[in-house]
Formats: sequence, structure tokens, C-alpha cells
Amino acid sequence: MPAPDATAAPKASLTVIDNRTGASYEILIQDGTIRAVDLRNIKTDPSDFGLMAYDPAFNNTASCRSRITMIDGDKGILNYRGYPIEQLAEQSTYLETAYLILNGELPNRRQLEDWVFEITHHTFLHENIKRFIEGFRYDAHPMGMLVSTVAALSTFYKDASKIFDTVSRRAQQVRLIAKLPTLAAFAYRHSVGLAYAYPDNDLSFTGNFLNMLFKMTEVKYRPNPVLERALDVLFILHADHEQNCSTHAMRGIGSSHVDPYSAVAGATAALYGPLHGGANEMVLRMLNEIGSKSRIPDYIKKVKTGEVKLMGFGHRVYKNYDPRAKIIKAMADQVFEVTGPNPLLDIALELERIALQDDYFVKRRLYPNVDFYSGLIYQSMRFPIETFPVLFAIPRTAGWLAQWEEDILDPEQKIARPRQIYIGPRRRDYILMEDRV
Ligand code: CMC
Repeated sequence: MPAPDATAAPKASLTVIDNRTGASYEILIQDGTIRAVDLRNIKTDPSDFGLMAYDPAFNNTASCRSRITMIDGDKGILNYRGYPIEQLAEQSTYLETAYLILNGELPNRRQLEDWVFEITHHTFLHENIKRFIEGFRYDAHPMGMLVSTVAALSTFYKDASKIFDTVSRRAQQVRLIAKLPTLAAFAYRHSVGLAYAYPDNDLSFTGNFLNMLFKMTEVKYRPNPVLERALDVLFILHADHEQNCSTHAMRGIGSSHVDPYSAVAGATAALYGPLHGGANEMVLRMLNEIGSKSRIPDYIKKVKTGEVKLMGFGHRVYKNYDPRAKIIKAMADQVFEVTGPNPLLDIALELERIALQDDYFVKRRLYPNVDFYSGLIYQSMRFPIETFPVLFAIPRTAGWLAQWEEDILDPEQKIARPRQIYIGPRRRDYILMEDRV
């Protein structure tokens, strides 16, 4: 072992003086954080459990070290594995980005061809899955169907439980990325009462997805190249977003060492909520409810009194314009040139203009997020509103799988298990029924 360098800068630390005991503690600062377990040394006496950090909703707690996605929320920067989202949206494809997110590096030509081939050849589902989908009511929400059918996949791939086997892990990652669009498309076809359209291996990832959704009587479905590319860009933008609610669910569930299908089902359920991936659906419902530009001021008033939220606005991490929203807004025109204008766009633009000047939003640094404009594009591309969160879940699968793998291979991680501050009754004796008031 090399001798310690006497000239090295002293390690950054925090001196904490406990005014209950007068004791002083040195707590190391590394990467701008302190280790919460170091607080445990701060005790009033040896029987004391020690100090804990209380952080509801993880406002200020890092739960992992990650190499996958970096966000600088103040500057509005988002990078996957160091590559800026703007460059990936401009020059990459969703499958290439998924490879990058999972493997850490961009693929060379051969690696990309093999990867695309592998994904393309795992898009089919076991025929039994169609039968469960048939069991859902005609009006079942596609996210509900997706959560259940993804979970059901674990029963088809028994090897999925071998999570520390590299070959098995890779097989499940390929299957999940490849099959999510098929599950989503089948759920949609079920909800509109149409026969399922099977995957077409000649098409791109998003081209095939459009085929499975919208193919009718034509022998060969040919996606519109502008819409196919727009969907691919939207998928790139949604591929990962570091430690958000669903990724946290994925890591938390995965930390029990369950198979990745079960963990992705849990992450999909977390994404379904209106504060997360369900927000794109809610934005469209909100714009429909507002209905005209003249009604925006009244709606803003309701937001400011706390009666409703401005959906598609605000973010835990971004305190600046969400870079994904910027890209989507710029792309919307290309889509509307093909599909015709979306009448809700004018309302959205005016809503944004008014909100960005209003003190309530300025003070709280609330800007449009990824969901504010994505729904308008999806709607123009003929996706029913209920499928919008599904369009988030499909690409986010790549991010979830990379984060899951990073978590289970990280020697510092263990089963996720937060502490609590118990505030209920301490101990009391059982009361017989006849003695209860
Ligand atoms: N409309 C009105 N007020 C808001 C909004 C909003 N959309 N978002 C935050 N605020 C207010 C909030 O009430 C609070 O005010 P006060 O300080 O007076 O109590 C303040 O801004 C700070 O907000 P917060 O609730 O502490 O922020 P958070 O980090 O806990 O929540 C959020 C983040 C995304 C859940 C929230 O901004 C929100 O509910 N937005 C609407 C739903 C939405 O668009 N979700 C999609 C997020 S982006 C896609 C994804 O990654 O999921």
C-alpha cells in the first residue's frame, strides 16, 4: 500500500457539536454528501440508536451512485452517459440510445446491427398472452393492462430469476425492450375491438409499433417517415431520467432480487400516476377542459388558489425549462405539417406564455416539463389519450433496466429499507369488544 501523501489536501468534513452532550463529531463530506449512517455515531449514550436523517419524499437524499443519467436542473441539462439529450435527439435512434444507456458506450456499426437484430427478433408474444388481454373489459385502461401483462411475462421466462447470470440478464433486457411495444399495441387493439396486428420485422422499432397499432387492410403497413422519426425522438427523450418515482420503484423492487419482469411491472405502476407518466394524459384533459384561450385566466386563478394543478408544469429537479420540452416543442411543427394543426396547441402556447410571466410560477420556478407538449403530438398522431402513459413506459423500460442492473451489481446496495419515525401509540392492551365505546 502506498504511504499516505503528507501534502494531500485535508479531507472535507463537517464538525457537529451535540449540544445535548457537548460531544463533537467529524463527519466526512464526499461528492457533496455526507453518509447518513455516519449520523448514527451521534448518540446521547451507548444505548441510544443514534441520529437519523428525516427526508420525506427524498427531497435531499441521494440513494445511489450512478453513471447513467446526469441532470443539472438549474441549467436545464440532461445527458445520458455524458451525451447531451439534444445531440441524441438530433442524431441517434431510440434503439441506439437504449444500447448506450444499458452498456455505457455508443455501439459500433456491428454492435448496433446485432442489437437491432436481437430486439427485432424478440417482438413476438406467447399466444397465451393474447388470451389474458381478451379477459380485460373493453374499456380497461391500457396502463392497467400493461402492468398486468408485463408481470405475467415472468411466468413465461423462468430463467429470469437468475438475475446474477449475465446471459440471462441480457436475455430479459432484450425481451422486455422488444415486447413492451407488442403488449401495448395489443392492449390498444383490444380496447378498440380490432384484431391484433403482428410485428413486422422489416420495419424499425417505432415503425413496427405504428404498424401493430394502426395496420388495417393493407398488405404491408408503411409508416409515415416523419411520424416514425418523431415517435423515435420522443422515445429517446423518455428513455431515462435518473432517480424519478418509477426508477426508484424499479430499484427498490429489484433490490429484493425479484425477476426484472416483476420489477418493471412495479415501475410501470409507479409511472401510471398523474404526477408522473400519467401527466401527459392529464395535460390533454386539462387543455380540453379549458377549451379556449379566453378561459385561461380563470384556470390560472384556480391553479393559484390550489384548486387544481397546472399539469405538465413543474419538476422536482428542473428549476428551468425542461430540455426535453424544448425539443418536443420544436418538433411539433414538423408533425403538424403531416397531421394538420392541433387546435389545442394555441391554448397550450398561450397557457405557457401567461404562466411564465405570472409571479406564482416565476417565484416557484415552474416551467413546462416533458409532458406539456408531448400529448399534443401523440393526439395528432391519432393515439387515444389513454395510451399516452404507455408511450412513456415503452422507452423508459431501457432506463429502468439499466438502473436495475446498476443497482443489483453495486456492492454498496442492499435490500431497500428506509427507516421511519414512529408517531403512533407506544403500547396498549387489547380491548375486549364489549368494553369498546
Ligand atoms: N401547478 C401548480 N403549482 C405547482 C405545480 C403545478 N404543476 N407544481 C408545483 N407547484 C407548486 C407547489 O404547490 C408548491 O407550492 P408551495 O411552495 O406554495 O407549496 C411549489 O410549486 C413547489 O412544488 P412541489 O410540490 O414541492 O414540487 P415537487 O417537486 O414535490 O413536485 C411535480 C414535482 C412534478 C410532482 C409537480 O410539479 C407537479 O405535480 N406537476 C404537475 C404534474 C406533472 O406535470 N408531472 C410530470 C412531471 S415530468 C415527467 C416525469 O418525469 O414524471
